[in-house]
Amino acid sequence: MRRKLVAGNWKMNGSLAANTQLLTEIKSELGRAGASCDVAVCVPAPYLAQCQSLLFNTPVALGAQDVSTHEAGAYTGEVSTGMLSEFACRYVIVGHSERRAYFAESDELVAQKTARALIAGLTPIVCVGETLAQREAGQTDAVVGAQLNAVLSSIAASDLAKIVVAYEPVWAIGTGKTATPEMAQEVHAMLRKQLRAKNAVAAEEVRILYGGSMKPENAKELLAMSDIDGGLIGGAALKAVDFLAIIRAA
Ligand code: PGA
Repeated sequence: MRRKLVAGNWKMNGSLAANTQLLTEIKSELGRAGASCDVAVCVPAPYLAQCQSLLFNTPVALGAQDVSTHEAGAYTGEVSTGMLSEFACRYVIVGHSERRAYFAESDELVAQKTARALIAGLTPIVCVGETLAQREAGQTDAVVGAQLNAVLSSIAASDLAKIVVAYEPVWAIGTGKTATPEMAQEVHAMLRKQLRAKNAVAAEEVRILYGGSMKPENAKELLAMSDIDGGLIGGAALKAVDFLAIIRAA
């Protein structure tokens, strides 16, 4: 039985004051009621220290939104796995569609980032997803399959259980449009099959999250599908009541 994971992706949002308020509300509710799933927040890099201290000794794990493929050196603007580890990051998102689209991240670069995260003992949350044009052209399986395949080729079969996959249809991100539970399940099952070809035993342990306008109103039915093991939450992770409602649904 896979334990579900609900991870917030704050994207480029937040401030010292807003983060304190949001995490204080989340902590106080989870401190009281507990969480029956794993919970994480992936925050902008400048807030790692603040969030590390706010989340100390709580059930909420810390994550980052991107990482460099390099260990250290002359790479202006980059953040290394070692730096993330110093702030007790457990997760790092790699290959988010916004990074692929706006920062020209290729499947190969995403694969390198995944491998680098694993070396450092971080759990990569590997994002895959098709655009609307690709879905309409019937290319969903091919696109998403190729994105995952690049990552699978770069990691050892024995490391498979250490990754998290997030299926995020690009047309559903931040648009309010969500894949139906059946549509999402179909892609998740396809991804699971691909994971099995790499390592049949570990594939059953890998959590495949759904992302793309998951919110309190649709979380329960999405999370009820057999291969949907949690959510990567953007907009709804910025409001404590919404994020907490999704955690409860999981
Ligand atoms: P959204 O974002 O929940 O706002 O659609 C999800 C994501 O991009 O991770």
